[in-house]
Order: sequence, then C-alpha cells, then structure tokens
Amino acid sequence: MNDQIADKVHLLLVEDDKESGMAMNGMLTKRHMEVQMAENVEDAIKLFTANTYDIVVTDIRLGKLSGIDLLRYIRRNNLNFPVILLTGYEDLDSAINAVKLGASDYILKPLDDIDKLVRPITKAVKHHKTEEQLIQYRQKLQALTLELILAEEKERHRMAVDLHDSISQAIGSLKIRLDLLAENRKHKEFCDEINNISATAGTILKEIRTLTFQLCPTTLYELGLNQALADLVETTRATYKTDIILKTNRAPKPLNKDLEILLFRSARELIMNVVKHAKARRTEVSINENDNQIELVIEDNGKGFDVAMKMNKGLGLFSIAERVQYIGGRCIITSESGKGTCARITIPANTDMLIRQSLSPSGLRI
Ligand SMILES: Nc1ncnc2c1ncn2[C@@H]1O[C@H](COP(=O)(O)OP(=O)(O)OP(=O)(O)O)[C@@H](O)[C@H]1O
Ligand SMILES: [Mg+2]
Repeated sequence: MNDQIADKVHLLLVEDDKESGMAMNGMLTKRHMEVQMAENVEDAIKLFTANTYDIVVTDIRLGKLSGIDLLRYIRRNNLNFPVILLTGYEDLDSAINAVKLGASDYILKPLDDIDKLVRPITKAVKHHKTEEQLIQYRQKLQALTLELILAEEKERHRMAVDLHDSISQAIGSLKIRLDLLAENRKHKEFCDEINNISATAGTILKEIRTLTFQLCPTTLYELGLNQALADLVETTRATYKTDIILKTNRAPKPLNKDLEILLFRSARELIMNVVKHAKARRTEVSINENDNQIELVIEDNGKGFDVAMKMNKGLGLFSIAERVQYIGGRCIITSESGKGTCARITIPANTDMLIRQSLSPSGLRI
C-alpha cells in the first residue's frame, strides 16, 4: 500500500508517557506529519476544539479519563472522525471493544517498527478523506436535484401562463366572435357550420385548460398549496375514477413558494404511484401544520410493497427522499403487503433559508 498522502497529515497525539510520546513524535515528523501533543484527555479536548486535525492517536491509559473517553467525546460530535488507539497487550480487549465503539483501528505497543505506526494512520486518514468526499458529492447531488425540480416547475409555470394568456385568450375571443356570427339566422347552413367551428374551439379551450393544469396548476401560484392539492385530488378522482380525499387542519396561509412547489411535486408523485402501482380502493391525502412543521401524508389501502427493495427501483421515491432530506425534512414510507402504503413527509415550516442556501452555488460546498 502507498503510505504517502498528498497533503501533510495533522495529527493530535495523546500520550502521558513523555519518552514514548517524544519517540513517536520524532518518527511521525520524519514521515512528514505535523504532530501536536497532549498528555491527558482534558488538554486533548481543548486542542481538538481549537484546532483542525486529520486524526487523533491516543493511548488508552491516560490517568483520570481514558483514551476511550476521548473517543466517546469525539464520536458525540463527529461520527466519522478517525481515532486510533495505542494499547499494550494488557488492554487489548478494551482496544478491540473500542473499535466496536467506532475507533478506526488500534496499534499495539511497544512499537518496534515505524511502519506499524504510520500505516494504520495513513489508511485511516485516506479512508476518512474518501468518506468526506462522498458526503460532499451526495450533498451536491441533493442540491442539484432540488435546483432541477424548482427550475423545471418554474419553466412549466411560465409555459402554462403563456398558454393561458396567449393561445387560450385568442381562441376564446374567436369563439365569442363565431357565436355572434351564428346569431345571424338568415342562412341556416352557414350558421350550422359556424356552430360546429365554435364547438371545436370550445373543445380546444377545454383541452388547453387540462394541459395547463397538468403543466402546472396556476392555483399553486395564485391560491397556494391547499387549493392546488384540492385541485390535484379532484382531477385525480375524475380522471382515474378512484376514491381519493383531502384532509387538512392548516389555514390556507402561504408558505415559502419553493417549499410549496416541493410539497406539491412530492404529493403528485406519490398520488401517481398509488394510481400506477397500488390498486387501492381508497386514498387519503392530508396536509397538516403542527409545531412549526408541515406534514404531508398520502395513505392508500392498496397492495403494499417491500419498501427496502423497491425504494431505488424508480426515480420517484428516491428523488423525493433526497430533496426532502436536503432541506432538513424527513420522508418515511411504511407499507404492508395487502394492507397498503403510507408516505409521510415532514418539513420544518421555516425552511426559507435552507432552500435559498441550497440553491446558491456557494451553498453547495464544492
Ligand atoms: N403506493 C404504492 N403502492 C404499491 N407499490 C408502490 C407504491 N409506491 C411505490 N410502489 C413501488 O415502489 C416502486 C418505486 O416507486 P418509484 O416512484 O420510485 O418508481 P416508479 O413509480 O416505478 O417510476 P418513476 O421513476 O416513474 O416514479 C414502484 O415501481 C412500485 O413497485
Ligand atoms: Mg413513481
């Protein structure tokens, strides 16, 4: 294995035996590591809080508080930060248990070979850097999916408004003029033809209205989430001849628009899932606001499914979960074969900041 890391490793070494500590410090410095030393857990915590390290290497026996106490302290604040324990044979069991508690590795003392010290350190630091990078990629991906969905929804809204304001209005006025012409009853055949054309114009108008709603319910922008969900439920009931109802305890006060879009898109995806997959006899949609939390629940009594197996099968559930998690919410799906499915999304009502931050390039933490 390659024992080199491109950047210098910043290491906190906690060892109460001065001689042994100085010897290790010397070995590590020779391998281009920058070492700071502490002789007890209290001093180590002070240094750890004030500085930035890549790894902590600590003896287990240190006096009042042990290396394992230090490990516990670090784990409380940082789940992944690498900690390596130094141990003699007499404490080997504790070291093995400490790995179960989340230590990256342990090194047996006395040290007769510098590589026995350097190799596990390099491995743990590299592993941690890769993990951190993965977390950052994931956050970036979550931010991008959110950005994409909002951009798409805004574009849909623009197209819906254009359709309504230009084409719909033009055909509407054409129909009115045709109806006025048809009132001239002198030429029956002429009138019949005009009536036919007017009826066709009426059909086109209805189709544009449906298309506009499918593109983007203008009620979401004009009247807010409650009304848009009511329209969505109504349209689903009429289109798919299914028993679906909406319940709510929240006053129809406006939320942050991006949050309304996100919740509406999630509801639409979850309702379409019920229509496509559930074979449900009844579906209940509810939107509630409690303790500064918005909760959207879609519950069906359909065939149910194995959530763990199917969660990443399509894009729908996966992207809802990613987006919701990114803005600090939770999406929990429970399902039982033959009994149905319940999808519950909870989001803090005050996510203004979070959403804006997620959309700004600087918020991506590249
Ligand atoms: N309410 C439901 N009842 C039964 N099965 C469901 C339900 N919701 C989801 N599923 C199952 O979970 C799978 C994953 O759903 P998901 O929405 O992620 O993908 P999809 O609907 O198949 O495709 P798309 O990417 O178009 O959304 C579905 O294929 C289906 O098998
Ligand atoms: Mg789906």
